[in-house]
Amino acid sequence: MEIAMAIDDLVVARGKRRVLHGLTCTIQQGSVTGLLGPSGSGKTTLMRSVVGVQKIQSGSVTVLGQPAGSASLRDKVGYLTQAPSVYADLTVRENARYFASLYGISRREADQSVTDVGLHEAADQLVGTLSGGQRARASLACALVSKPELLILDEPTVGQDPVLRNDLWQQFHALAQAGTTLLVSSHVMDEAGRCERLILIREGCIVADDTPAAVRAATGTDDLEEAFLRLVLEQEKLEQEKAKVA
Ligand SMILES: Nc1ncnc2c1ncn2[C@@H]1O[C@H](COP(=O)(O)OP(=O)(O)O)[C@@H](O)[C@H]1O
Ligand SMILES: [Mg+2]
Repeated sequence: MEIAMAIDDLVVARGKRRVLHGLTCTIQQGSVTGLLGPSGSGKTTLMRSVVGVQKIQSGSVTVLGQPAGSASLRDKVGYLTQAPSVYADLTVRENARYFASLYGISRREADQSVTDVGLHEAADQLVGTLSGGQRARASLACALVSKPELLILDEPTVGQDPVLRNDLWQQFHALAQAGTTLLVSSHVMDEAGRCERLILIREGCIVADDTPAAVRAATGTDDLEEAFLRLVLEQEKLEQEKAKVA
């Protein structure tokens, strides 16, 4: 398996505070990796570092063999920001066609992306009149339109109804099967089981980086939320013991 992305000892500060404390991980090409962790744990900061829009303090982020943020990666990396970034005064279809035009992609393909995110019926609606969940999907359609090799999706399924969430996950896996690499974040642990690989993050540190099955086996529970808790407790115990010795 080829490596799509490698992060090595990444340290990031935001404001005066250090928010990522030396993260190291890799992501395989053509896989769906989940970046799971509570709110404020550093998911968005990590994703921004991968896209190359985050100032980093030390360490390195290599994306498709290039340093993150390299100009040559611009049309190879798609980024869905946590807050929808679409034009409120354009329709869904117009938004998708606009982003497609930036990449020299046909209108037909743009329209297909709108259908893929389940917005066919709302295609002619102004984005400003959509529900929050629909707006998030419109934003996703625009991120998908350029068919990037690496897709960074920041909480794409938050606020979506269960049926749609299921559809979106199926779509992510279909994309991965076709060779796209996906890094998908969520703060909802019940989505963890949907990923081929998990990176569990808490307070800017990686708690686990493994398959869901391995995380379940290591913690002795099928419930990934419980597994996360057990990993955190274990880590805290280790830290306390280390502090005692020191
Ligand atoms: N612009 C900013 N300035 C200062 N601190 C920030 C900024 N953005 C985020 N942070 C802090 O960085 C930490 C990680 O945030 P973030 O990466 O957004 O976490 P997540 O996406 O997991 O919720 C949080 O403690 C947050 O308060
Ligand atoms: Mg976030």
